[in-house]
Amino acid sequence: MTITKPVTAATLLRAKQRDEKSVWLTATDATSAAIAEMAGAEVLLVGDSLGMVSLGYDSTLPVTLDQMIHHTAAVVRGRKFAWVVCDLPFGSYQRSAEQAFDSSVRVLQESGCDAVKIEGGEHMAETIRFLAERGIAVVAHIGLTPQSVKKFGSYGKRGKSESEQAQLIADARAVTEAGAVALVLENIPAELATAITSHVEIPTVGIGASAECDAQVLVFNDLVGISESNPPFAPAYADVRKVMSDAISRWSADVKAGQFPK
Ligand code: KIV
Repeated sequence: MTITKPVTAATLLRAKQRDEKSVWLTATDATSAAIAEMAGAEVLLVGDSLGMVSLGYDSTLPVTLDQMIHHTAAVVRGRKFAWVVCDLPFGSYQRSAEQAFDSSVRVLQESGCDAVKIEGGEHMAETIRFLAERGIAVVAHIGLTPQSVKKFGSYGKRGKSESEQAQLIADARAVTEAGAVALVLENIPAELATAITSHVEIPTVGIGASAECDAQVLVFNDLVGISESNPPFAPAYADVRKVMSDAISRWSADVKAGQFPK
């Protein structure tokens, strides 16, 4: 379903209240943005996963604010009506609410996007409040938070123990009360994601979470099958890696045989 009207934070909240699902997808440039939106994505998330899928890093940690702004501006140029969210990268918001504000202002002014996303729950609530009170739309992200991979040592499921579950529920409440407009739940048990979704007023966005979340998000390259391998919770709906490599092989064979141009 192609989007025909601008999507806003209010659109997403109304969808939750009407029990309608929303579709989020990552995008990294103008082309992926245009394709995703044409195919029905209402929100384009410029995730810092682009550090791994587009820039060749082995984690999201090396991604800089300048790189996020560069990619987000391209996504904004490629969208028509979708809501564009930019991940604040590692190191650009954790020091203080003021640092998060300065980074968000740069992102919003230099890329033209609509919202920023930050990883963290209770401990980031004051920062979220500081941004929200100053008119910035903030998406919070809890559960598996890839920017903390060095602390946790893996990209495994979070919220497996009772104490972790209690913490995640407290995190969800804290970011909601602080004024986040949506909440990404990554790689947590389905029952926990379902419980959080029914307890918070803001839309939840699941990735490896639960079909009961108000929205779902996947990484573009994983969904269309460009990634070399996908996380277990991200099925590929096509094999675009093979389609691309077949096209390049056939063209390359034609060039070698002196049959291109025809
Ligand atoms: O960086 C990213 O792509 C993300 C999504 C996986 C939620 O944060």
